[in-house]
Amino acid sequence: MSVFSSIFKRFSKDIGIDLGTANTLIYVKGKGIVINEPSVVAINKKTGQVLAIGNEAKKMVGRTPAHIVANKPLVDGVVSDFEVTEQMLKYFIDKVHQEGFSLFPRPRVVIGIPSGVTEVEKRAVEDATVNAGARQVFLIEEPMAGAIGSRLPVQDPAGSMIVDIGGGTTEVAVISLGGVVVSRSLRIAGDEMNEDIIRYARDEFNLLLGERTAEQIKIAIGSAYELDKPLETTMKGRDLVTGLPKEVIINDNQAREALSRSVKTIVNNIKMTIEETPPELIADIMEKGIVLVGGGGILRGLDKLITEQTQMPTYRAEDPLTCVVRGTGIVLEDIEALKEVLVTTQYEKAPKTKKR
Ligand SMILES: Nc1ncnc2c1ncn2[C@@H]1O[C@H](COP(=O)(O)OP(=O)(O)OP(=O)(O)O)[C@@H](O)[C@H]1O
Ligand SMILES: [Mg+2]
Repeated sequence: MSVFSSIFKRFSKDIGIDLGTANTLIYVKGKGIVINEPSVVAINKKTGQVLAIGNEAKKMVGRTPAHIVANKPLVDGVVSDFEVTEQMLKYFIDKVHQEGFSLFPRPRVVIGIPSGVTEVEKRAVEDATVNAGARQVFLIEEPMAGAIGSRLPVQDPAGSMIVDIGGGTTEVAVISLGGVVVSRSLRIAGDEMNEDIIRYARDEFNLLLGERTAEQIKIAIGSAYELDKPLETTMKGRDLVTGLPKEVIINDNQAREALSRSVKTIVNNIKMTIEETPPELIADIMEKGIVLVGGGGILRGLDKLITEQTQMPTYRAEDPLTCVVRGTGIVLEDIEALKEVLVTTQYEKAPKTKKR
């Protein structure tokens, strides 16, 4: 009996999903991360046909003719277009199935949701996941998954502080004993930093930039703290006065100024979270430090700035872009032991799920 169950366990294709505003990642139990693509879907508005999903669709952003839209089906970390989200998930899950698992039953899925979402929003994620082919869905708050993915001891009676800066949302959370003790979620993160760059180029140089170009500039030279070595790059866009193409050089000082508004808001929210944290947990965090996950956490010097502003040592997790999905993976490997970290939903409370 136990031999059989362990054999089945080995072939289980349960999956963990980080359905992010910017990127969707999928972890397959026993296999690791198999999908890591932008959360973008290109649709022909005339026919309703999906033209491309993921990497292919992202290339189309800002480059589509009028009848094609390349959309992000998630806004601020929350499902904004249910049908498109479902199609995207189905596409990714099917892609995973094709990799040799198709004979096995439909997967159980652990999926991340932003902390503090409403029951309706939770339900939307669950429904999209079930409709995309999942047998059973478990929800986990993204900061919890991020903390587990960066190997913080979330079940210990000690405080851990995690800051997840994604595309749409920044989530700050203090975790202890398998639960979120204090948290804040704000809708300012990487996408807003791109907007900062666009605004700066427009206001300072009358230069109109595309969203992807702005993101490339941010990644190339963006920072939150003065750099040891100066950086600069060329911004290519359209002159708002002449309507013609224009190039302007931007250096790291200017980019830092452009990004300062979002950066400051993020740092202030971290400070406010610290103010709300019980003192015993503060002492733990002072010892262990604040951990940064999510793509926005890669911004140069952000760790240094947060250390300076909060008086708490701050570290970037290893591979910040994959922490949340790796966290869902760790949960998958042992759902029973980690059940307490999962989110309970109205669904589960409903009598029809008594089977579990
Ligand atoms: N080197 C970098 N420097 C600054 N920002 C970066 C860097 N690399 C990626 N990013 C930003 O990280 C963001 C994406 O991060 P991530 O994949 O963690 O978001 P997400 O999980 O999809 O979004 P959310 O959690 O808000 O739903 C994008 O805004 C991207 O521009
Ligand atoms: Mg995220």
